[in-house]
Amino acid sequence: MSLHLRLLSVFYLLAASVHALPAATRSHTDPASRSSNPSFSASSLAAISLDPNYQRDSCVSATKLFGDRVFWVCRDTIVLTDQSLNDEFANPGVTSGFVSSTGSWSNQTSGGAAGPLLVPPPSGQGQQQATSSYQYQLTQYGGDIATTAYVPYADDECNSDGNQAGTGAPCSNNGTRVPLWPDSPPYVTQVASDGSVTAWLYLRRPLIKGLSIQNFEPPGSLYYIYWPSNDGADTLPLIGLVNEEFFPEGSFTYGDYGGVVDTAGEYLYLFGQSLYTDSQGNQPIALARCPVDSPANNRTYEYYYNDGTWSSVQPSVNDTSAFISAGAGGQGTYFYSSYLGQYVWLGQLANSLGLQVAVSVAPEPYGPWSAPSVIAILPASEYGPTYSVAAHPEMSSNQQEIYLTYTRQVYWNNNADNSDRTFYENPLWHMTWN
Ligand SMILES: *[C@@H]1O[C@H](CO)[C@@H](O)[C@H](O)[C@H]1NC(C)=O
Ligand SMILES: *[C@@H]1O[C@H](CO)[C@@H](O)[C@H](O)[C@H]1NC(C)=O
Ligand SMILES: *[C@@H]1O[C@H](CO)[C@@H](O)[C@H](O)[C@H]1NC(C)=O
Ligand SMILES: *[C@@H]1O[C@H](CO)[C@@H](O)[C@H](O)[C@H]1NC(C)=O
Repeated sequence: MSLHLRLLSVFYLLAASVHALPAATRSHTDPASRSSNPSFSASSLAAISLDPNYQRDSCVSATKLFGDRVFWVCRDTIVLTDQSLNDEFANPGVTSGFVSSTGSWSNQTSGGAAGPLLVPPPSGQGQQQATSSYQYQLTQYGGDIATTAYVPYADDECNSDGNQAGTGAPCSNNGTRVPLWPDSPPYVTQVASDGSVTAWLYLRRPLIKGLSIQNFEPPGSLYYIYWPSNDGADTLPLIGLVNEEFFPEGSFTYGDYGGVVDTAGEYLYLFGQSLYTDSQGNQPIALARCPVDSPANNRTYEYYYNDGTWSSVQPSVNDTSAFISAGAGGQGTYFYSSYLGQYVWLGQLANSLGLQVAVSVAPEPYGPWSAPSVIAILPASEYGPTYSVAAHPEMSSNQQEIYLTYTRQVYWNNNADNSDRTFYENPLWHMTWN
């Protein structure tokens, strides 16, 4: 589990309620000429998103619906026994497992088009402590209760004896870990006429020890996801490793920071972020693209340089001519909004394990991206940071709305025993663009 996150100091104790920040007025008729960032006119807590069998850290969702459903991938997941939070905390050792990632479905209404299917939390379900303060639940489900990580471990990723957290030998010899954490959505590049879906997951793969990164120029892996459309409702999409070092050591892991298919459906644009921090505390971002029909073929990739050119030459992670401004630097999501008439990045400020949601917009995926501004503040954790802001544009019933999730940590049993033990909640928020 992300114990390291629980051990971080408390960044944000205040701001227990959400405010949509004051809106700048602007015209909807000519989005291209807008001089200020968009803002939200309304925001409300829609539901808790939850698979009752799991305690999950951060979740993201694929960029398009698979049939009429949302496909989620989540980072570190504690597999509960009998859906019991008490067992997790009161009876250590009773939880059934811990894996680096899990997948899930969630249902939409009306064939997908009318937004997420929200239900009152079922009374017979576990995790009542987590659901009790929510009127509605977005139920995540599917797959057998996880015994293996959804993102598969390769033989040299510290998975000895089937270890599914990347903490097995040889990492266990020195306390390191290969965390296969999906940081950004599976990018859907094809929905075939029979409804089958092809998507891609890019994953930066450092070695860590606690929170501390051991290799700042790690390789990046590419995974292929395929859903045949006629599988049973519980079956998760297939996933396979394309190449463990698709982006070699010393390069950016394009796609791990974010990505978006352009409106023409021509290119998949992929953002990567360096693990190095510059003197202003920013981690540089770079951009690549490939034709939507060839993400597995590294020879089809082009790399963006900040003189406005594309090249087949892949820059090193230290090559300042590849650095661009795109987003605010913390976790977020890129997508196109036809309501705003712009590409949008929604996410967190750099170095902010925080509850501030920032926005940046651009006319093209390669920019220019507007200077990010904070447009919403989400309820803080009761203890520890809030993080992993993710937007879910595929869930919207109309383009003026956008759903967001994030992770907050809530005290188990109201911290009655002063143990500071927390469980994870992934609230689902509904935002309306101004
Ligand atoms: C989701 O929809 C499927 C049918 O596509 C249904 O079998 C399943 O019970 C639904 N699950 C939830 C949690 O709504
Ligand atoms: C720890 O072990 C891993 C896996 O064998 C290895 O890659 C790494 O270099 C080691 N790190 C240290 C600090 O010894
Ligand atoms: C593509 O990947 C192969 C190895 O997988 C590598 O040898 C080759 O140099 C790469 N080509 C480009 C253009 O990155
Ligand atoms: C990149 O820069 C860092 C310092 O920021 C340095 O430690 C590292 O060796 C550099 N890597 C390469 C490949 O030049």
